[in-house]
Amino acid sequence: MILRAAICVAFVPLASLAQDEPPDWSAAETYADAAAEADPLIAIPLVEGEGTDGAWACASCHGENGQGAGPIPALAGLPAGYIVKQLHDYAAGARLNDNMQYVANRLDATQMAALGAYYAAQIRQPTAGATLGGDLARGRTLALEGDWTVDVPSCFSCHGPSGWGVEQAFPPIAGQHAAYIDRQLSAWKSGDRANSPLGLMHSVAKGLSASDIKSVSDYLAELPPPQPRDRVSLTREPQDE
Ligand code: HEC
Ligand code: HEC
Repeated sequence: MILRAAICVAFVPLASLAQDEPPDWSAAETYADAAAEADPLIAIPLVEGEGTDGAWACASCHGENGQGAGPIPALAGLPAGYIVKQLHDYAAGARLNDNMQYVANRLDATQMAALGAYYAAQIRQPTAGATLGGDLARGRTLALEGDWTVDVPSCFSCHGPSGWGVEQAFPPIAGQHAAYIDRQLSAWKSGDRANSPLGLMHSVAKGLSASDIKSVSDYLAELPPPQPRDRVSLTREPQDE
């Protein structure tokens, strides 16, 4: 926990830290504990829309196994704690989106926890790809090295060396749909998404131009999606031979 905070705080301009809320690194971890306790069977009727208003079945927008498309994110293989945190954030208005606020406001905490466990266990297919006409070489530079001339740290310094995420709070971004990534970076710039601990993503996004956003979104979408077994864990014990 301390290591993770140290890694990331090192990249955040100090001016942005002063005005932000105190960090809540533990939110995603706490929600992950709740998801581990949840009964995944609670999730299935919600995913399929049985016994609820069918129009609002998760699968009607996010696809059969949570693969997403275009501006709708793939949910398969995201960390359970991250997913549950997002549902709470939509319900609380820290993330603005009419459809997802409607959906999240109709879920209770037990249902959210079960949905997090359900989607975390789905396997992500490599269905994303570059669609925005971005400059892939520029996107690669931003992802791997960042660009200090515009105060943008390397994406992978926080999202893991392959963009497959780190534990619960740092989601995988590799293999996600380009149009969705573009929308999120733009939403952090405009304030429509204001839910990252310490305002980390707000600080990152504000240095990116619209063209940089397209480039990094297209680059990330072209990468192989997260392999849950290989997710970077800072607390994992070294393996014995
Ligand atoms: C009417 C279409 C629609 C339905 C139904 C829907 N979603 Fe979504 N969902 C979206 C869109 C669009 C976004 C992206 C919104 C944004 O840009 O913030 C999204 C985003 C999300 C995210 C954020 C993912 C991330 O990577 O941060 C989660 C989690 C999520 N949805 C879960 C669900 C669950 C669980 C259900 C069912 C209970 C559901 N959604 C039903 C359209 C929908
Ligand atoms: C200082 C650490 C840090 C850096 C550097 C960073 N991120 Fe993030 N990012 C985060 C955190 C933390 C979250 C989760 C926010 C939340 O809880 O909603 C996040 C979330 C995201 C998401 C949302 C994923 C989803 O499924 O909705 C995207 C997209 C993203 N980052 C893209 C990037 C890109 C592109 C870069 C590089 C230009 C980058 N990040 C650099 C910390 C970082």
